[in-house]
Amino acid sequence: DRLVVAVDGPSGSGKSSVSREAARRLGAAYLDTGAMYRAVTLACLDAGLDLTDQDAVAAFIPGSEVTVSTDPAQPQVVRIAGREVTEAIREPFVSERVSAVATNPRAREILVGLQRDVIASHRRIVAEGRDITTVVAPDADARVLLTASEEARLRRRGLQLGGTQSEESLAAQVTGRDRKDSALVNFTTAADGVVTLDSSDLDFEQTIQALLDIVAA
Ligand code: CDP
Repeated sequence: DRLVVAVDGPSGSGKSSVSREAARRLGAAYLDTGAMYRAVTLACLDAGLDLTDQDAVAAFIPGSEVTVSTDPAQPQVVRIAGREVTEAIREPFVSERVSAVATNPRAREILVGLQRDVIASHRRIVAEGRDITTVVAPDADARVLLTASEEARLRRRGLQLGGTQSEESLAAQVTGRDRKDSALVNFTTAADGVVTLDSSDLDFEQTIQALLDIVAA
């Protein structure tokens, strides 16, 4: 009973927390591909690479030894060559620069390969990101685009960041990154065969249930 669930969605759609909890209930592993993009970005910065040098960034990734934990019941652990960077990859310094890696076609190709390896190494897994339903695992058993209104996404990201940020700053972070991201992958409209799950008016538990229903269908 192999199971692959692919979840895509924009920033603040809740895809990370929803995918993690769904994975836990399904007895599946959980892969946060955004954490891989973030870790690779930080690794490049630490190595002093110019992120606009696309060839240098792509060449650097295979040896960068980025690992992301996949147990949904444990706190996430992200490492670069053994060094823990779980919190560092969430810093604005990284969030603001990750698009440089995400818009690098060769870097994406390499990361997609690494993500497929992780998926293949688990019998059951929920993988989430921006291009899982379309590029990384288009043959997944269930493919879901998790959306939410801009208002709901800003509210959630604000809560996640501790309610300390101004509305302007949140909007710049969430919609600004979406705009940069949409240049590379279409994650706002569902591809053929992908089910759209709009969570704007659902709470966390209702969203999990809706996702589990789609997986069971
Ligand atoms: O913080 P948020 O949930 O918005 O993003 P994330 O899932 O941590 O991903 C960080 C960044 O990685 C995104 O803004 C995208 O630029 C990139 N990414 C991507 O291009 N493809 C993926 N499959 C996952 C993330």
